Amino acid sequence: MSAIIIDGKEIARRVREDSAARTRTLRASGVEPCLAVVLVGEDPASVSYVTGKEKALAEAAMVGRDLRLPASTSETELIDLIGALNADPAVHGILVQLPLPKHIREDRVIMAIDPAKDVDGFHPVSVGNMVIGTPGFLPCTPHGVIVMLKELKIPTDGAHAVVVGRSNIVGKPLANLLARRDVNATVTVCHTGTRNLAEHTRRADILIAAAGRPRLLTGDMVKPGAAVIDVGVNRVEDASAKKGYRLVGDVDFASASEVASYITPVPGGVGPMTIAMLLRNVVEAAELRSAGAERTIR
Ligand code: GUN
Repeated sequence: MSAIIIDGKEIARRVREDSAARTRTLRASGVEPCLAVVLVGEDPASVSYVTGKEKALAEAAMVGRDLRLPASTSETELIDLIGALNADPAVHGILVQLPLPKHIREDRVIMAIDPAKDVDGFHPVSVGNMVIGTPGFLPCTPHGVIVMLKELKIPTDGAHAVVVGRSNIVGKPLANLLARRDVNATVTVCHTGTRNLAEHTRRADILIAAAGRPRLLTGDMVKPGAAVIDVGVNRVEDASAKKGYRLVGDVDFASASEVASYITPVPGGVGPMTIAMLLRNVVEAAELRSAGAERTIR
């Protein structure tokens, strides 16, 4: 058997078109949806992500405010900048690219962002809203995975979803969203402490790889007919590649695609969905503010 390769770019394009249309409506009433993107330092992967986000904002006719700070920026300076962005009525969303340099505490920085502008969905208030099911911004990558499953009509009701990874950005929120009533999956979370990982992954109807370990999941760990969603983005050295590295996921694509029913490629799978959901959150933040309804986010 050979899996259907999920075209994340195409699904993301549809989501982005919707955001672009909503942006046109806002612009017609004089509101320019604006995301402030804060990058501290010059980590190459982060620079590349931020550049991609800014390009997508421009394509959707949104305003990207590009704030690049030196790696030597102090935690206080960064928190002061966030305070200024919180107070700026032209800014609808704030994104601080992670990871931050070691001397800056990420939790302090995330907590400084006004939850009404937390389009990443990382603030504890946003996380609490997600868990309880009250309105708030959902984190982009996990939400993108859910939208992808729905768009492809992959059955989730009563399905067994196995999430490999427990990060705050992907694994934990995804496990939460999969267990919500509208998705209704039975969820297993695996992590570095899991004994006999393959025993769990082989029972997954929906297998989600978010461990940050290149090619961790091989075909023999996949149940025949499972949908395999690969959230991993790993740079591995490759002398034959122009840049000297290649991007690979957490799934060994060659062997897993022989067994799965659906599989996402890396790149071109989940990645484009993350950006599409970010744009949607920015439009939503602008709509809520222009309707004077920002309190519903809190
Ligand atoms: N670093 C890796 N993924 C993300 C993300 O979705 N948002 C932010 N802010 N930083 C990240």
